Amino acid sequence: MRVFLGALRHLRPAETFWRPCLIPFCRQYLVGTEENEIANAIKNRSIAAPGPYSELCEALISDQVGKAPALLVPSCTAALEMAAILLNLQPGDEVIMPSFTFSTTATSVVLRGARPVFVDVDPSTFNLDPEAVARAIGPSTRAIFVVHYAGVPADMESLLLIAREHGIKLVEDAAQAYGSFYNGQPAGSHGHLSCFSFHGTKNISSGEGGALVINDRDLLERAEIIREKGTDRAKFLTGQTAFYTWQDIGSSMVVNEMTAAFLSVQLRAAAHITERRLEQWRRYKAALAEPAAQGHFSLPDPPRNCKHNAHCFFVVLPSREIRADLMQHLRAFGINAVSHYVPLHSSPAGQRFGRQVGPMPNTQRAADCLLRLPLWHDLGSDQEVVIEAILDWCSKEGSRNAYAQIGQ
Ligand SMILES: Cc1ncc(COP(=O)(O)O)c(C=O)c1O
Repeated sequence: MRVFLGALRHLRPAETFWRPCLIPFCRQYLVGTEENEIANAIKNRSIAAPGPYSELCEALISDQVGKAPALLVPSCTAALEMAAILLNLQPGDEVIMPSFTFSTTATSVVLRGARPVFVDVDPSTFNLDPEAVARAIGPSTRAIFVVHYAGVPADMESLLLIAREHGIKLVEDAAQAYGSFYNGQPAGSHGHLSCFSFHGTKNISSGEGGALVINDRDLLERAEIIREKGTDRAKFLTGQTAFYTWQDIGSSMVVNEMTAAFLSVQLRAAAHITERRLEQWRRYKAALAEPAAQGHFSLPDPPRNCKHNAHCFFVVLPSREIRADLMQHLRAFGINAVSHYVPLHSSPAGQRFGRQVGPMPNTQRAADCLLRLPLWHDLGSDQEVVIEAILDWCSKEGSRNAYAQIGQ
C-alpha cells in the first residue's frame, strides 16, 4: 500500500482547495448501455412524458419498495414539495425534522407557509432521535419528515409509533436510501409518502431525478394531478376521462423520456451497484478499525436491524480542527473527502422560517466532526490510496500527540 501513496505524493505534492482532485468524492457510474436506451427513446420519437421508459422506471421503483405506486419526478426536492402539498400543509402548521439534513427537507414545508421544527439526531446514526421528536410534538404538529442519513434507515418503529399516537403523517426523505432495508422492509415503504433522489451524488443516478412513493393509496389520484400541472391528464391518458382539465394546484413534475431511459438502466443494475459499494464500505471499516480503536476517530456502526445501501462511509473526528487537519492532509494527495451539513437550525433561512426544539449536541458534532470519504462503484485501487493516506495521517497525528504530551 505504501507504493500507492508514494506514487501519488510524487505526482501531486501540494493539492489545494480549488484544484481538481485526483480522487474525487463521488463519480457517476455508467452501466454502459445508457446511450443505447437514450438513442432508442429518440428513435421512437417519444421523448416527452409519460412514455415507456418512465413507466419502466416506476415499475422498477415500485418493485423495490414493496409494490407501492411510484411516480417519477425531476428530483427528491420535487417529491418533497409534492408530499407537502398532499399533506395540505398550511400557515400555522409545523413539521418536525432533523436539523442535520439537506435544505430541501425544510424548503418543501416552508413553500406551503408551514414551519419546520428542528430537533437533534441520534449520536450514532445521525438520524432523527425519537425522544427529541416526542418532546417537540405540539398542537400544531402535522407531520414528521424522517431522513435516512447515509442510507441507514432511521428508527422507524419508534417514529411510526409517535406518528400513530398523535394522528400525524410520516414522510420518509429517503433521498440517500434507495436499496436499504429496515427490519427486512425496504426504506421508503414505511411512511405515508416517501421521497427518493437519483441525483448525481446518489448510488443510482440520472444526474437529476427522483421519485415519490405513495404508500397511502388515498393520496395517489391527487398526486398524479399535482404532478401533471394540476390537471387530470393521467386519467385522460388511461382512457378514464374524455378530456382533461384543471383540477387542483400543481406543477410540472414529470420527467422526459431521455432521462428516464438513462435511469432505467441504472435501476436495473441497482442490486449490483449496491453490492459493489457495500464491498468498499466494508473494506474501509476493516482497514480503519485499528486507528479507530486507538481513538483517532469513530466509524459508522449501523444498527443490526438495518441493511444499508453503502451510500456513504464517514469517519467522525474528535474536533472541527482535527477534521480540518485530516481534510487538508488528504487534499495534499489529491483526495477529496468532504463534510456537510451546516445545521438547518443555525442557517440564515432556518432561523427565519423554522424553530429549534431542544439542544443540538449531536447535530453540531456531525456538522463539525464528520468527514465523508470517496466512495463510488469503481473506486478500485484508489481506495487503497485513501486508506493509506489516512493511516499516514494517523501515524503523524500519533507523533504530534506524543510531542504534545512531552511538552505538558
Ligand atoms: C436528505 C436529502 N434530502 C433531499 C435531497 C434533495 O435531493 P435532489 O437533489 O434529488 O432534489 C438530498 C440531496 O442530496 C438529500 O440528501
